[in-house]
Amino acid sequence: PAQPQLEVNGSTYATDSWTNVTPKILSYLGANKHLQKDHPLSIIRQRIVNYFYGAYRNQRGNPLFSVYDKLNPVVTVQQNFDNLLIPSDHVSRQKSDCYYINKHQLLRAHTTAHQVELISGGLDNFLVVGEVYRRDEIDSTHYPVFHQADAVRLVTKDKLFERNPGLELFEETWTGSLADPKLILPSSKCMDQTKQPCHTLEAVKLMEHEMKHVLVGLTKELFGPRIKYRWVETYFPFTQPSWELEIYFKNNWLEVLGCGIMRHEILQQSGVHQSIGYAFGVGLERLAMVLFDIPDIRLFWSNDSGFLSQFSEKDLHNLPKYKPISHYPQCTNDLSFWLPSDVDVDAGFSPNDFYDLVRTVAGDIVEQISLVDKFKHPKTGKSSVCFRIVYRHMERTLTQAEVNDIHKQIANASVDSFNVQIR
Ligand code: PHE
Repeated sequence: PAQPQLEVNGSTYATDSWTNVTPKILSYLGANKHLQKDHPLSIIRQRIVNYFYGAYRNQRGNPLFSVYDKLNPVVTVQQNFDNLLIPSDHVSRQKSDCYYINKHQLLRAHTTAHQVELISGGLDNFLVVGEVYRRDEIDSTHYPVFHQADAVRLVTKDKLFERNPGLELFEETWTGSLADPKLILPSSKCMDQTKQPCHTLEAVKLMEHEMKHVLVGLTKELFGPRIKYRWVETYFPFTQPSWELEIYFKNNWLEVLGCGIMRHEILQQSGVHQSIGYAFGVGLERLAMVLFDIPDIRLFWSNDSGFLSQFSEKDLHNLPKYKPISHYPQCTNDLSFWLPSDVDVDAGFSPNDFYDLVRTVAGDIVEQISLVDKFKHPKTGKSSVCFRIVYRHMERTLTQAEVNDIHKQIANASVDSFNVQIR
């Protein structure tokens, strides 16, 4: 039988065995919390955009950066992964980690997915802001939809070496040919933190210096001039060398952004041959939770005026601390079931599938789910799992009867969807 089609954002898509978006997830498209007046995520977006507008200006005093904050979150596998040199067997491509529309299209898992189309279109200084979609666990800091801001800045040789016109961007020994994507080194081999083979050390060091200066400036703009920070070397397939910037917050080092010198293959693919670039990406919820003291990521989706009325974009620089509307009681219920006999706890069963089902049935009244127990029966060989579900409404007290009813619905839906047997 022909696979049913899916209507997303006004376009029709074929579905296939990769399709795993749920109607619940699709309902977030177009919510645009990062553009909603007075929403904390919109306030953070404006702070970041204004900082970049001020940090880079042309001779006429106009901002150098342009901002793209309404791009369609439906992207191709090529945009989200291939273009960014993410290896074809990379874990981040798995069906259990992304929301696929079909084998070729998915809801973007990072705003970096738009890099190549924008650079190919001739842009050299831009920001992309929008929501991204990832399948993950359920707790106070994870939500299947969250927001990112990404930036790219490309600099030509003449601009980079304005004061040292004798220097070169590229190594003399480098042939300039596009690396064969099939020969792209696995992550273990790309960890060389010094530089990519094609770049001169002078070019990389200058670019790194500028990037770190601008990103520390952004961090101080957001968290105040006294914020304690550190750079941690890391790996991204699309940048080399790469770093994470961490801030010291409430006795912990907290990762706030990822960045690095853009892989030259990406620029070449986009038709840029005489520039070097840096890129960075930052999660908006993480910043907003720290800056406004917002304790739970579900609150960003609240339409309750008790939440929304606390924030105003009139004064972007005087951020109020969130005042809990009230703390309603939690209610915890366990759910145990036997998996079908041909499914193993560690092989055929993905907890993320269960989390999506819970999101669909119960929505935001689920605060947290943990997998508290799993075992294999020694005689029957059947696997059993137990999930602990913590229910709490953000704006009112849930009654025990209400929770029991929803818990029952989750159990029934699990039986229908996964062919499990409730214990
Ligand atoms: N896309 C990366 C992420 O989602 C962030 C990033 C963007 C890192 C650009 C480097 C350069 O974690």
